[in-house]
Amino acid sequence: MKKVGVAILGLGIVGGGTYKILSEHREFYKKTQNIDVVVENVLERRKERAIELGVEPSKIVNDMAEICSNPEVDIVVEVMGGIEPAKTFVLSALNAGKSVVTSNKELYCKFGHELEKTAKKNNCGLFYEASCVGGVPIIRALLDNLQGNVFLSIMGIINGTTNYILTKMSNEGSSYSEVLKEAQKLGYAEADPTSDVEGYDAAYKLSILSSMCFRTKIPYTEIYREGISRISNDDINYGKKLGYAIKLLAIGKNSGSGIEVRVHPTFIKSEHPLANVNDSYNAVYVTGDSVEDVMLYGRGAGALPTGSAIVGDIIYCATHQGFNYSTFKNTEFADPATKFVKNFESAYYLRVCVEDKVGVLSKVTSLLGKHGISVAQVVQENDGTNGLQLIIITHETKENSVKKAVDDINATAGVANVASVIRVV
Ligand code: HSE
Repeated sequence: MKKVGVAILGLGIVGGGTYKILSEHREFYKKTQNIDVVVENVLERRKERAIELGVEPSKIVNDMAEICSNPEVDIVVEVMGGIEPAKTFVLSALNAGKSVVTSNKELYCKFGHELEKTAKKNNCGLFYEASCVGGVPIIRALLDNLQGNVFLSIMGIINGTTNYILTKMSNEGSSYSEVLKEAQKLGYAEADPTSDVEGYDAAYKLSILSSMCFRTKIPYTEIYREGISRISNDDINYGKKLGYAIKLLAIGKNSGSGIEVRVHPTFIKSEHPLANVNDSYNAVYVTGDSVEDVMLYGRGAGALPTGSAIVGDIIYCATHQGFNYSTFKNTEFADPATKFVKNFESAYYLRVCVEDKVGVLSKVTSLLGKHGISVAQVVQENDGTNGLQLIIITHETKENSVKKAVDDINATAGVANVASVIRVV
């Protein structure tokens, strides 16, 4: 039986979950995979946390060099998060000839090219299933099972915190700040929630996933990003009446004219499968030229779901000859021939606060017409608190046309302001 030595860097939520799975399933992997996976070291400053999880004190280290020089360690699992010291530790593990399994989306998104180059140089494996969408096996699906496709699009709910907040706001009518506080209390949202609520976390994941789909590096700096902190209960309710659910969507499309990548709150028709992905669940919906539509759904975070992805990578690494690197040239920047579409097309929801006066509606719609924007639906709402609201859904139009039309509408007599602009799928 092959013995496989593992070192875990960080025994936080995911590291703890990984340790638990490996310990509890050790006999199972011996029987089913013919491998004995042994945790040889953990790098953890909080000794008591490691001991509480059942780690033998002799295996707890606080110096990465000890792991790199331990001949019993074959695979290093990095679950620390952030760039440093994770990057230095991963590079030193690879340079010491250890394969690496990481859950670190920010690290892989920003430095995947450097990690992969170092892994190849040292003939080591580099695995990152847990970096995107926790327990949902989207990376392996794109790398292996679906690799025969030319991907047309990828669309996903790939951040659980924001999906939890938007679901609660929609179902219970609570405000953004109330739900955020509750999510922080329950440990779903970080004390500093910026990375989740402003869409950075989703942008890192979209960068990784769309690079795999479109076979060129998609730097996260090319991704249009807008978070959920300005979404109001009014918009959620008006959208609901028109048959839409609100989601923070990550969208990548490869049309003939270029690649567009964006993360933003989106109204999506309530019958779309993604509209029914609620609470902290995640889902990724990809469209390939051969397979057509595929949706993967599950837990995007959490100790055991993310641990499941990590342990899957450990077993894959231990039982396969050679390694799976990216199926594209994993460089720092996109292939020079890649064209990014910034002025993308979408339908839009506009909420315009107006005075209830003759001619205001026609002025607003004629300004939309002036910018070539065709109106699909208009509803007038007067809920007594916000005054008269025009809720407008447009047909597909260009982003820049909407920006210009919004500026013109804001400058129109009888219009208080364009209170919200939300893209619609
Ligand atoms: N903060 C992430 C989320 C955790 O809310 O989805 C997993 O990346």
